[in-house]
Amino acid sequence: MKKKYHYKSKNLIESKLLNKRDIECFLNESEKYIKFNKKRVKKEKILKGRTIFNLFFEDSTRTRTSFEVAAKRLGADLINVSVKDSSINKGETLLDTMTTINSMSPDILIVRHPEEGISKKISKIVNAGVINAGDGSHEHPTQALLDALTIKKKFGNFSKLKIAICGDILHSRVARSNIEILSKLGSSINIIGPKSLIPKDIKKVNVFYNMEDGLKDCDIVMMLRIQKERIFKNHVPNAKIYFEKYGLDYKKLAYAKKSAFVMHPGPMNRDVEIDSKLADDITRSLIQEQVTMGVAVRMACLEILIYNRDKFGDN
Ligand code: CP
Repeated sequence: MKKKYHYKSKNLIESKLLNKRDIECFLNESEKYIKFNKKRVKKEKILKGRTIFNLFFEDSTRTRTSFEVAAKRLGADLINVSVKDSSINKGETLLDTMTTINSMSPDILIVRHPEEGISKKISKIVNAGVINAGDGSHEHPTQALLDALTIKKKFGNFSKLKIAICGDILHSRVARSNIEILSKLGSSINIIGPKSLIPKDIKKVNVFYNMEDGLKDCDIVMMLRIQKERIFKNHVPNAKIYFEKYGLDYKKLAYAKKSAFVMHPGPMNRDVEIDSKLADDITRSLIQEQVTMGVAVRMACLEILIYNRDKFGDN
């Protein structure tokens, strides 16, 4: 394992705590795993004997399985805790569950939970490193890192790029983490959506309420899922009207640069925020590439955080 990383913490909880060199550290370390993941036999030993827990208190396909693939390819033992079968259902508190698992001496806890800030709280009571795999509408740092890696592989640099993030910004941890990371890397960011789905205090971005103006000259159009599970007020019109105004199809994509690419963190609501054909069009859509980059990024994250925990202890 490499002897030194610019990033020095055993936790990865908020993109807003990362500086440009931290982000570059994660992206550079991910590059070697892009190559590694193309091999026929994908097995390394650098995390042999290490114990990683996947603790998902919200549904997930991409994040949970890609962390599992990442850990296993590096030789670690990964335990998936099924929350629906856990003692939380008998009244145990979340923090008691975490201290219980911490007593089994894990190296990393990967946590997804609907409560904002919960990963930070957990990191203060466990010895293991903690990765925030999504906390409510707050942050999803490994998603933003994998999105940045996808963009880096396509464009080579960030500084001349104009990136549109469109849709339900208000409830999106992906948007919040991407705004932090992509702006620190030097990209210019346009946010587009209905007024009801754009936070009032949003910073570091240009805000637009219609796709025609917001997509002008953009290199990348990142679409977001309508977060139905977090929308309790009447924030959005019905799906048909929403798609007409804010759903990305070929016609609206033409407002962006001719060479623009489409991204979406998944899961998608096809024909609500993105036209189904466009989502599957590999000449314009990077959606599958994002998933591939997710494994590489998560391998790098596990390697770096476990190294930091060994070297620096409980920082
Ligand atoms: N992008 C993302 O976090 O997907 P999952 O909910 O499937 O993990």
